[in-house]
Amino acid sequence: MDKVIEIKAMTLVLGRRTILNIPYFSLEDGQSISLMGPNGAGKSSLMLIMAALLEPTTGTITWFGKKGKDQTLLDLRRRMAMVFQKPMMLDLSVMENVELGLKFRHMSRKQRERQVKPWLERLGIAHLARQRARSLSGGEAQRVAIAQALVLQPEIILLDEPFSNLDKETRNEFKQDIGRLLKEQKITTVMVTHHIREAMDLTDIIYYMEDGEIVSRQAVADCTVNDKFRM
Ligand SMILES: Nc1ncnc2c1ncn2[C@@H]1O[C@H](COP(=O)(O)OP(=O)(O)OP(=O)(O)O)[C@@H](O)[C@H]1O
Ligand SMILES: [Mg+2]
Repeated sequence: MDKVIEIKAMTLVLGRRTILNIPYFSLEDGQSISLMGPNGAGKSSLMLIMAALLEPTTGTITWFGKKGKDQTLLDLRRRMAMVFQKPMMLDLSVMENVELGLKFRHMSRKQRERQVKPWLERLGIAHLARQRARSLSGGEAQRVAIAQALVLQPEIILLDEPFSNLDKETRNEFKQDIGRLLKEQKITTVMVTHHIREAMDLTDIIYYMEDGEIVSRQAVADCTVNDKFRM
């Protein structure tokens, strides 16, 4: 399998603290992985580096076999989408927020509408299309953030605790829908979660982080819920 992201001898130092220390990590095309670990372990920071939104202090990172500087960041970002732990919405309607990325790609209004509508429907937010995004509830905003990412048809999706604001019932239903979507579209997925059940249902490999390091890697096929991963 082709490596879509490869990290070598990478550290991230912020202030005087070493936030990340990753000797080696790779993500293969079509793979679906979870990052787990306690608060402050470095999960979101590692995601930001994978999304090319944060530069590591040392080490190298390649995307699709090339270093960042050998491809324009714009080209690279077009192939990836990230859903942040705290959804970032502009003070526009839901529809306008979701279509923003397509607008940047100079897609016509008609085409944008054609592409956005099915995602709003699939994510159960079509009825909110005209509402101001900033007036949404936490769970609704999370759905919009996911629609915003999926509408771009990325090859890699980075999801930082995408279900944390959803109630238990919605979370279960939504988790199944998203799982199906990601598999159908064959999107390479990295998901941060604090829930082992979520990691096992949606991804194939679980990486566990502590103090900025990856301390274990386990295939979901070999896991049980009573594993040491339980949090
Ligand atoms: N700009 C920064 N300057 C200094 N320290 C930072 C900065 N950004 C993050 N950190 C620190 O880096 C560590 C890792 O943060 P990160 O957000 O990656 O953790 P996380 O594993 O995602 O945690 P959580 O589960 O709470 O989301 C934390 O201790 C955080 O305080
Ligand atoms: Mg985080």
